[in-house]
Amino acid sequence: MGRLSGKVALITGAGNGLGVAVAKLLAEEGAKVIATDIDYDGVKKIVEEINKESNESAIALKHDVSSKDEWISVVEEGVKAFGPITVLVNNAGILATTKYDQLTYEKWQKVMDINAWGQFVGMQTVVPHMKEAGIGSIINLSSIAAVNSGGGLTAYTASKGAVDAISRAAAVELGEFNIRINAVIPGVIQTQLFEEAFPTKEAKDAAMASQPLKRVGRPIDVAYLVAYLASDESYFTSGTSQLIDGALNVDGSRVAAKLD
Ligand SMILES: NC(=O)c1ccc[n+]([C@@H]2O[C@H](COP(=O)([O-])OP(=O)(O)OC[C@H]3O[C@@H](n4cnc5c(N)ncnc54)[C@H](O)[C@@H]3O)[C@@H](O)[C@H]2O)c1
Repeated sequence: MGRLSGKVALITGAGNGLGVAVAKLLAEEGAKVIATDIDYDGVKKIVEEINKESNESAIALKHDVSSKDEWISVVEEGVKAFGPITVLVNNAGILATTKYDQLTYEKWQKVMDINAWGQFVGMQTVVPHMKEAGIGSIINLSSIAAVNSGGGLTAYTASKGAVDAISRAAAVELGEFNIRINAVIPGVIQTQLFEEAFPTKEAKDAAMASQPLKRVGRPIDVAYLVAYLASDESYFTSGTSQLIDGALNVDGSRVAAKLD
């Protein structure tokens, strides 16, 4: 039996990057997986790979996390397929690398809608099913940018700060229903988002050199932490923001992302 047998997990942004590693590991550990992404082709391919390994344990759904209506239909379909959702991984997110004086309301709002509102409305939609099941674990992806921003990331930083704060608030409000909420704070992890932030060889080398471990993280490193928080092993862990950054935050290094 896997560590997550009996769990039903919804993972957003599961078509690329961290979400892929999370969806695959959670399925490997025995969870039924509802994998969603705005990139339907991407997430469909990942689900085909999962189902080759563990037959019929995952479904793929097209999903824009900033839309409440889409959350309602995705959750409805997921519950129809596997029963009440007991794990929610709010992973989908976008980077916004814009200089302070170039930031417009539209850019600000887009990042906030996807990164902050998208996670909140996800919790709001899934929680009734967790209450029905009598158990739940919600894992919200924040970012090292909310701890020590490299500059030029004001809107992204604000959205991830909101993620941390919303997670703490929800942990207090939902504890009595046996629902745990934790935020995960990755440092620099090798994904498409890393490519966007550090597009040239020089930028990548500089990012690498500024790491205390002299390497960036792998998506699977984050997935291991998410699997722990999703499992009953983290029975008494709630309201935390867990850093997984190879000591970048204690070093205080400044990793400058490429700006628009
Ligand atoms: N990679 C890093 O270094 C890093 C560091 C800190 C935090 N994070 C956070 O981790 C999470 C995953 O990042 P990643 O590196 O895997 O990014 P990624 O760009 O590789 O993947 C993000 C996924 O989210 C999807 N997505 C984008 N907008 C969406 C929307 N509106 N609705 C649904 N899906 C949408 C994309 O299609 C993509 O599949 C994000 O929340 C990100 O902010 C990443």
